[in-house]
Amino acid sequence: MPVERSDAFVFFGATGDLAFKQIFPALLGLIRDEGFDLPIIGVARSGDLDSLRERARQSLAAAGVVDRAAVDALVARLRYVKGSDDDIETFHALRRELGAARHPLHYLAVPPALFAEVVTNLAASRCSEGARVILEKPFGRDLASARALNATVHEVLAEPAIFRIDHYLGKEPVQNLLYFRFANSFNEPLWNRDHVASVQVNMPEAFDVADRGAFYDRAGAIRDVVQNHLLQVVSLLAMEAPSGTTPEAVRNEQFKVLDSIRAISPKDVVRGQYRGYRSVTGVAPGSMVETFAALRLRVDTWRWGGVPFYIRTGKSLPVTATEVLVEMKRPPQSVFGEAQSPDADYFRFRLAPDMSISLGGRAKKPGEAMVGEAVELYACHESGTERPPYQRLIGDATKGDQSLFAREDAVEAAWRVVDGILDDRTPLHEYEPGTWGPEAATGILARGDRWHDPVVSARDASIPVHGARPATPAEQPVPAP
Ligand code: BG6
Repeated sequence: MPVERSDAFVFFGATGDLAFKQIFPALLGLIRDEGFDLPIIGVARSGDLDSLRERARQSLAAAGVVDRAAVDALVARLRYVKGSDDDIETFHALRRELGAARHPLHYLAVPPALFAEVVTNLAASRCSEGARVILEKPFGRDLASARALNATVHEVLAEPAIFRIDHYLGKEPVQNLLYFRFANSFNEPLWNRDHVASVQVNMPEAFDVADRGAFYDRAGAIRDVVQNHLLQVVSLLAMEAPSGTTPEAVRNEQFKVLDSIRAISPKDVVRGQYRGYRSVTGVAPGSMVETFAALRLRVDTWRWGGVPFYIRTGKSLPVTATEVLVEMKRPPQSVFGEAQSPDADYFRFRLAPDMSISLGGRAKKPGEAMVGEAVELYACHESGTERPPYQRLIGDATKGDQSLFAREDAVEAAWRVVDGILDDRTPLHEYEPGTWGPEAATGILARGDRWHDPVVSARDASIPVHGARPATPAEQPVPAP
């Protein structure tokens, strides 16, 4: 089992979309801010070292990097192996290029269908000896394929050398869910079925599938973000307190709660597809793939018995935001004789575009009458100072730190939750781009519940300090930039 720091970074799919959008900027940040000094070897089917260098420059320009010295340092570090993932000669060439490196970190930024082949070839060429491997999500296509893939990868590498990346786990506000829950004593008496009415995770995206049609049409919203990002968020909201600070203590609790989520039944799912999706390049003309999913989860633990957990996500919705709303039960009696407010008390966690935690409730309006209004106590951090998730996660992987990576059992538990609702097992509803998806999504809500549409306002992005402010329902949604 490798414990040493990695001594070379290899990325397969070097000319691909993920490398362009995430890996080059992450490496730049590591070099500039964290003293990352490993050789960087790109592997791809086409091009040469010069074209890879040019691609890196374009990627960093597109990411808005203006630090020329850092760009030059990254470009100078690049090396290149040309070849295909199914050709063992590519891997022998890679072993030669690795030279004296004994603990390479291989990042498989290639379609998941190729993982098994690449890992097998890494072993056959001895590139896997002493190595670590980062695997992109989705890890498998369903429970059976995830199990098969885990078995194949385990023939070559032990679990401590396998890094299943889910960039949500590297996000600062997602980390804060864990921290906020267990660093404050006031949460524990409230955080259970006695006081929580429902938990909702919304991840609308205002943009469409754009140039990712070929990838997306093999995935769909449930494989793309529910099985991984959003179930990870649910696990942090619903888990029990870890017994300590070790990575395994947290990952044990995450697994336990994922394992206790009931397999989702088709009646608890609404899938949608935005009008126009089928004309996107790479999408099959009669595609039944969902670009929207609304789901109801049942967490079968003592703490959460009977509390609905909802997830809703989709492309071409009105705003881009990720938000958790933990809605509390109503007071047992109306002491002030007011008509019941449509909004219960709640905790709101904004994960994007701004990072904030708020506590929503009612306070008395100044005046003679005992009449109230909705208010939020609101705390936020200005974003921009935290390390971007891919930078943080690649850096962690070079040190062998698996805290923020998905473990084998948790990945399989998450697949089990969605396994019965994948593909076209449930109806597909068309929706207009720019709307909140199919009307049918309200049908999975328990009586009295409603979807809470995240609001993105100029103010959300501009409040830099702790303070109090009026509640958001009165604010007018404006599209995210
Ligand atoms: C990716 C999905 O994993 O996460 C995308 O493939 C999605 O479809 C993205 O848009 C969302 O991540 P973020 O960090 O932009 O919220």
